Amino acid sequence: VIRSHVLGYGAYLPENIVTNNDFAQRMDTSDEWIRTRTGIRQRHFAAEGEKTSDLAVKAAEAALKNAGCTAADIDMVVVATTTPDETFPSVGTMVQARLGITRGFAFDVQAVCSGFIYALATADNFIKSGQARSALVIGAETMSRLLDWEDRSTCVLFGDGAGAIVLNAGEGQGTAADRGILNTQLFSDGRMHDLLYVDGGPSSTGTTGHLRMMGKEVFKHAVNNISVAIEASAKAAGVPVEEIDWFVPHQANQRILDGIAKKLNVDASKVISTVALHGNTSAASVPLALATAVGDGRIKPGQLVLLEALGGGMTWGAGLIRW
Ligand code: ACO
Repeated sequence: VIRSHVLGYGAYLPENIVTNNDFAQRMDTSDEWIRTRTGIRQRHFAAEGEKTSDLAVKAAEAALKNAGCTAADIDMVVVATTTPDETFPSVGTMVQARLGITRGFAFDVQAVCSGFIYALATADNFIKSGQARSALVIGAETMSRLLDWEDRSTCVLFGDGAGAIVLNAGEGQGTAADRGILNTQLFSDGRMHDLLYVDGGPSSTGTTGHLRMMGKEVFKHAVNNISVAIEASAKAAGVPVEEIDWFVPHQANQRILDGIAKKLNVDASKVISTVALHGNTSAASVPLALATAVGDGRIKPGQLVLLEALGGGMTWGAGLIRW
């Protein structure tokens, strides 16, 4: 059986940090409101002219270095993003060129905040089918470009950043037979469009548009649907949820993370949370949180790590990895 192994990880956050108090100076909000409703204390925003592909390349370079491989080793590049530099071509092909990769193939996956789980599932299936032996899987976003600065209920929630992992078909380090991606689970229900969307695009308004959200509805679906995805992933791997060592969720909001942990009876100490420092970075949040927890030594080889997310569409999913 071919299984995709994680060879390395990397992350990048833009230098510019914006605190809740910075928002409070510009609009009618407060650090207290934002912190108690969401857990967010600060977020990073890309500088003017700094694009999603710039963040993606930096995260990818860090991941390649951590994996001990070079760009020439990569067969496929898949970028999860909802904020591409241009409508086309894909950020994936831009990253491919910037890294000097001249073979294989690259593309983007669009599943908003679930994007990294979708990209991971895509790369895993290419590797398992034998169509690629290695993959660079990236989540990269400049969500700041989609925000309506007049809408205080959404503009305080998001941040910019990128994270990446290198996968390969069980070669090199970490090749023990029981390690790697055990399964991925994807779900979507397009009837829930109006809960979370951007009111623009090339074939509707011809503009980029702004993010629109029905916060309370999203909250309710997030807790329920992500719990279903986690249980499906654990069941497919034949392990009880309580045996999972670490949960690496999409970082939308601390109350969603707490709600899921409570619903599944998971100890909060097993849930990786970076939302306070990063805000919601959409498709970048899972690999950023993963890089944080592997980097600080919490996630160790051999442990069971569950990645999960929910986003616009709605889309949601989970992936279970024996690290
Ligand atoms: N500062 C101060 N007051 C605010 C702000 C703000 N930034 N934003 C909204 N308010 C006010 C509202 O105007 C409203 O005032 P009113 O009662 O006088 O009308 C009051 O706060 C309550 O507003 P609600 O929108 O009802 O606030 P709620 O308690 O639902 O919290 C929140 C909003 C935090 C967005 C919540 O609904 C939530 O966590 N939703 C989850 C959605 C989410 O995290 N989405 C991220 C993207 S989706 C994803 O990644 C999964």
